[in-house]
Amino acid sequence: MSQPIHPHRIVPVAIIDDATHAVPLARALSAGGLPLIEVTLRTPAALDAIRSIRAECPEVLVGAGTVLTALQAREALAAGAMFGVSPGLNADVVRAARDAGLFFMPGVMTPSDVEAALALDCHLLKFFPAVPAGGLAMLHALAGPYAHTGVQFVPLGGVNAENMSDYLALPSVAAIGGSWICDRTLVREQRWPEITQLCLTAAERIPSIS
Ligand code: 3PG
Repeated sequence: MSQPIHPHRIVPVAIIDDATHAVPLARALSAGGLPLIEVTLRTPAALDAIRSIRAECPEVLVGAGTVLTALQAREALAAGAMFGVSPGLNADVVRAARDAGLFFMPGVMTPSDVEAALALDCHLLKFFPAVPAGGLAMLHALAGPYAHTGVQFVPLGGVNAENMSDYLALPSVAAIGGSWICDRTLVREQRWPEITQLCLTAAERIPSIS
């Protein structure tokens, strides 16, 4: 199962309150050069939002975030999610996603979490909550002992336009993510051009790979 997140280097995380906002939001991201969205399963609208994006925006990689149960992993896949993400590591959820055919990125914050993830054969891990957990220094130290395993991290939680390039410069970081691009107020108020602009600004801050 290939993982589709890495090449974009930025994972916009969205909390969608109204499923009719999903398609214009996905199009706003696409217009800003970021055809990727993680729709968190935190609202009743989330699965419908995923369904609509998958049906109407074929160019957009849509995934489900905050996947906390095996049932949610299966529901997300059935709704059209192309990847799943969780804030923590729950082996039942990882196995259920894998068995169903859904690429899954669990969250980690400690060496024990990383080792549990490796035991489940997960090599792309959400580092969460990145900034409160110790930020760059913590991630650098956490990644060190596992570099030879090929594990890569996607820090989220307090990552934003101001600090994203510092994280992306770390060799262990495949991508970063955050909620600042799909700001909940901007989405509620349907301020799509501003979301497109946030994508363009973020894209300018991706360090070039030498
Ligand atoms: C989340 O689960 O909310 C994400 O990891 C985003 O965190 P952020 O709101 O700090 O960007």
